[in-house]
Amino acid sequence: MSISLEKLEQTVAELTVRGKGILAADESTPTIEKRFKAVNVTCTVEARRDYRELLFSTPGLGAFISGVILFDETLKQKSVTDVALPQLLAAQGIVPGIKVDMGTVPLPGFPGEKVTQGLDGLALRLSEYGKLGARFAKWRAVIAVGAGIPTHPAIAANAHALARYAAICQEQGLVPIVEPEVLMDGDHTLETSAHVSEEVLHAVFDALYQQRVALECMLLKPSMVTPGSACPTQATPQQVALATLTCFRRVVPAAVPGINFLSGGQTESVATANLNAMNIGAERQPWALSFSYGRALQAPVLKAWRGESANKMIAQQALYQRAQLNGAACQGRYTAAMENT
Ligand code: 13P
Repeated sequence: MSISLEKLEQTVAELTVRGKGILAADESTPTIEKRFKAVNVTCTVEARRDYRELLFSTPGLGAFISGVILFDETLKQKSVTDVALPQLLAAQGIVPGIKVDMGTVPLPGFPGEKVTQGLDGLALRLSEYGKLGARFAKWRAVIAVGAGIPTHPAIAANAHALARYAAICQEQGLVPIVEPEVLMDGDHTLETSAHVSEEVLHAVFDALYQQRVALECMLLKPSMVTPGSACPTQATPQQVALATLTCFRRVVPAAVPGINFLSGGQTESVATANLNAMNIGAERQPWALSFSYGRALQAPVLKAWRGESANKMIAQQALYQRAQLNGAACQGRYTAAMENT
């Protein structure tokens, strides 16, 4: 099968509109159960449907959100009024996407390191997801930082899987989001995080090149370069922006159209402030710098909703506000004072 670049380019163009980013709402059932538990919601199929319907039908969301990543169950789910959930997004001008990795497993022989699985049968799954309306996909690789890790073989195994996934996506007409996440867990410094991120991204782009992935038709979803969450010396948004951009300018080719950061456990306002700092003077960078946040967009929504339909409107307002603030951060126009408006 030959790759239709035109279709992929159209999807990339819609996803990388300036001032917009991606909502990651692709939690697997065990993960959303954990999030629901924190706000005392029982994780039934109906509760998951109601919550995702609430997110996707937020009035005006399309002004700041260009795409939403869904989980398998959600892509196939219908609203209470019998509308397919991806249709709710398309009606707001938002591109539906799908998480296609099958999670991580321990990498044998490498204690503390993991590899992502899900390549077997991927082409067929993607072609079915495409028929259900998905136009882009996501695969997350996880790199832990600690004593003696990450190792080269673990980085190479994850980079190879990401590149094979990306090539299969492009062949099937879906834009791949390539997500190598360097975890924030640990007490490593900003310098260590920068060193690990550089090595990981270098390996990922080498593997993408080897697998003949069209860099113009993919998006990168990386972690920001930050100190570990237990590091005694934390970093300001300016320091995070400088460390991240210095690293990325070395190893992320200019052909990549967009970089959509994950939030990785940062609080909502920190994730927004860091993104904003990166976008001050962004005209000097070759890529669009935006967000693909899960927790940093959804945490206030879950807190407002708590499983009560009566809270739907305030929960939607919370999502709208967070999306709006991150939209401003994509243009370097966010200030902390905007949190209280
Ligand atoms: P967080 O922003 O909560 O890290 O989630 C993003 C994501 O999609 C992780 O795979």
